[in-house]
Amino acid sequence: MSEHKHDLLVIGAGPAGYVAAIRAAQLGLDTGIVDKEEQLGGTCLRIGCIPSKALLESSHKYEDASKHFFSHGIEVSSVALNLKAMLKRKDKVVKTLTTGVAGLMKKNKVTVYHGSASFNSDKSVTIGGDTVKATNVLIATGSVPSTIPGINLADDLIDTSTEALSYDKVPEHLAVIGAGVIGLELGSVWRRLGSKVTVIEYLDRIMPGMDVELAKAAHKAFKAQGIEFMLGCAVQGVTSEKDGVTIDIKDAGPVKADRVLVSVGRKPNTEGLGLDKIGVTTNKRGQIEVGPRYKTNVDGVFAVGDVIPGPMLAHKAEEEGIACVEMIATGHGHIDYNTIPSIVYTHPEIASVGKSEEKLKGEGVDYKKGAFPFIANGRARANDNTEGWVKVLADAVSDRVLGVHIIGDSAGDLIAECATAMAFAASSEDIARACHAHPTLSEAVKEAALGVSGRAIHI
Ligand code: NAI
Repeated sequence: MSEHKHDLLVIGAGPAGYVAAIRAAQLGLDTGIVDKEEQLGGTCLRIGCIPSKALLESSHKYEDASKHFFSHGIEVSSVALNLKAMLKRKDKVVKTLTTGVAGLMKKNKVTVYHGSASFNSDKSVTIGGDTVKATNVLIATGSVPSTIPGINLADDLIDTSTEALSYDKVPEHLAVIGAGVIGLELGSVWRRLGSKVTVIEYLDRIMPGMDVELAKAAHKAFKAQGIEFMLGCAVQGVTSEKDGVTIDIKDAGPVKADRVLVSVGRKPNTEGLGLDKIGVTTNKRGQIEVGPRYKTNVDGVFAVGDVIPGPMLAHKAEEEGIACVEMIATGHGHIDYNTIPSIVYTHPEIASVGKSEEKLKGEGVDYKKGAFPFIANGRARANDNTEGWVKVLADAVSDRVLGVHIIGDSAGDLIAECATAMAFAASSEDIARACHAHPTLSEAVKEAALGVSGRAIHI
C-alpha cells in the first residue's frame, strides 16, 4: 500500500483523459492518470473509432478489389477474404496506437496507474491497494453501450460494437438495431464482407439529428449497396437461441437473423466511481452535469467527454479535456461547440458541421444555400468516385457560413476546412475566394460556396 499526491489526477485514459493529461503536464501540473484497462486510449482506440476505421478501410479495399477495379482496367482473377488476417491487422493498429499513448505519457512525465479508481473523498482516490491524492480530479470515464428493455446484451449472438469488431466468421444474416453511426458503420463493414444486413430503426429516417437531405442521400446510397432498412420499426425484444436470434418488432412480424448488433446509443460510464460518496450528482440520463469550467457540484472535481451532456464524439471530448485543464492551470480555455464536426465513416462518407437546414428553419433563420455535386468535379471523375455533393448554408443577410453538409469520398477530411472557416466566422464569399488546388475534391467545397450567390463555375 502506497500513497501518491498530484496537482491533477485524471480518471480514464480515453481521448478526453489522455489528451487532458498531456496538456496538463505541458502546463506544468504534476499529473497522474488512471485506467482500469491495461491498454491506454479508451473506447476510441481499443474498441471504437480506431478498430472500426481499420475494418472499414480493409472491407472497402476488399469491395473495391471485388467490384470496382475492373472500371480502372484492372482485372483480378479472384479475390478472397482472409478474415483472420484482416482482424489481425486491425488488432495490430490498435496495439501500435495504444502503445503510442503509453509512450506519450512517459514522454510527458505523466504517472500512469492501472486499476479501477474509486473516490474516498473529493481529493483522494483508491486504486487497488493504493491511495492517490490530488488537488484536482478530472473524471473522463467515457461511455458504455446502452440497450433497451427486452434485450440482454450478455446473451450469445446479441452483440454490441465491441463484439461486432471481432466476429470470427462473416454472419450470413446480421440484424442491426438502430440506424445511427455505429449501426451504419459496422453494418457497412459486414455487408461488404458478405453478410446480408438488415437495419431496423425506430424513426422513419436514418442518422437522427443530421441534415435531412444528407440523411436521405445516405439512405439511398446504402440501399443501393444492398443494406435493407426497416424504418419506423420499434424493436421490443430479442430472443437468442442456439443457432440465431429472433427480433420482436412492434406492429410487424419478427425478424430472424444469425446475430444482432444492438446500436441504440451509449450511456455514461460512472459505475464503481463512488460518486455518491463525495456527492457528485448525475442527471436523469446518468450524465454528470458540469458548469462552464467543467466543474461538477463538488469543488476540485471536474468532468469532460462522454460522461457529461453533449455529443459522444472523441474530438469533442479531446477539446473539452484541453479546455478544462487550461482553465485549471491558467484560468482560460475555450471551445466553440457550433464548429464540432460529425462524421460517419461509411462509403460514401458523410460529414456535417454547424446547423442543418431543419435547425435553421426551426430557429427562423433566413439562409441561402449553395450546392455542388461531385459528378461535376474533375478529380472525382478521375477517381471514378462521383457520388454525393457539398451543401453550404449561409446567413441570407451577413453571408456568414452557418452549416456545411457533405456526402461523398473524403467528406470527413473536406469538412475540416469548413470547420476552420466557421471558427473564424467566415462568409461563403471567404471560402469561395480562397484558392483551392486543382484538381482536388476540395474544389467542390469552393464551388458550393460560390453557389450560395449563384456563381458556381462548373455547373
Ligand atoms: P445513435 O444514437 O447514433 O443511434 C441510435 C439509433 O437507435 C437511433 O437512430 C435510434 O432512433 C435507434 N433506436 C433506439 N431505440 C430503438 C428501438 N427500440 N428500435 C429500433 N431503433 C431504435 O447510437 P449509436 O449508433 O449506438 O452510437 C452511439 C454513440 O457513439 C453516438 O453518440 C455516436 O455519435 C458515437 N459514435 C460516433 C462515431 C463517429 O463519430 N463516427 C462512430 C461510432 C459511434
